Amino acid sequence: MHVRLRPPTVADVPWLDEADSTPENRGLFNDFGLPRTSHAEQAQKGFIDENHGKLIVERIADGEPLGTVDWRPAMYGPPPESRAWQLGISLLPAARGHGYGAEALRLIAEYLFANTGANRVEGSTDIENIASQRALEKAGFSREGVNRGAQFRAGTFHELVLYSRLRSDP
Ligand SMILES: CC(C)(COP(=O)(O)OP(=O)(O)OC[C@H]1O[C@@H](n2cnc3c(N)ncnc32)[C@H](O)[C@@H]1OP(=O)(O)O)[C@@H](O)C(=O)NCCC(=O)NCCS
Repeated sequence: MHVRLRPPTVADVPWLDEADSTPENRGLFNDFGLPRTSHAEQAQKGFIDENHGKLIVERIADGEPLGTVDWRPAMYGPPPESRAWQLGISLLPAARGHGYGAEALRLIAEYLFANTGANRVEGSTDIENIASQRALEKAGFSREGVNRGAQFRAGTFHELVLYSRLRSDP
C-alpha cells in the first residue's frame, strides 16, 4: 500500500483550491465548467457530514497530497438502509498512472463500510474514462452496466459506466 486517506483541515484549503484550479488538474472527465467549490466554506462547515465527505489521498512515503476522494448519497428507496454512497476521485496529473487511484478507491470503500451503515458504494464514470474503470476494477468494484445519456458535460450527453462494491464483497 502506497497511499493513505486523511480528513482535510483548514490548512489544506490553499492546496485544495490549487488542485481544483485548472481543467488539467480537475481531469478531462471531471471538468463541468461550473463555478469552483469554495473550500474555505467547506472547511467552515466541516469537510465531513452525514451526507457528504471528502478525504485527502496522500503518499505514505513522504506525506505528499496526491488528490481527493469524496462521497455523496445515492438513494435507492425511502428506507435509510437504501442509501448508497456515490464516490468521486481526482488525482493531480503527476499522481496518475501509478496505481494510487485503485488503492485510494479500495481504502475509501473500506472507510465508508467501517464508518457508516451503507451496504453499497458505487463509482460512475464516463465510458471513455478507461483509467477510472480499470482503477475501480482493481479496487474490487463490479461493473454493473451503462447508464445511457446520463451526464451532461462539455455541451453534450455522455454515457456512464456504473460500478459497485457491496459490504459483503470479498
Ligand atoms: C481516474 C484516476 C482516479 C485513476 O487513478 P490512477 O492512479 O491514475 O490509475 P491506476 O494507476 O490505479 O490504474 C489505472 C489503470 O488504467 C490504466 N490506464 C491509465 N490510463 C489509461 C488510458 N488512458 N487508457 C487505457 N488505460 C489506462 C493503467 O494502465 C492501469 O491499468 P493496469 O494496472 O492494468 O496497467 C486518475 O487517473 C484521475 O484522478 N484522473 C483524473 C480525474 C478522473 O478522471 N476522475 C474520475 C472521474 S469519475
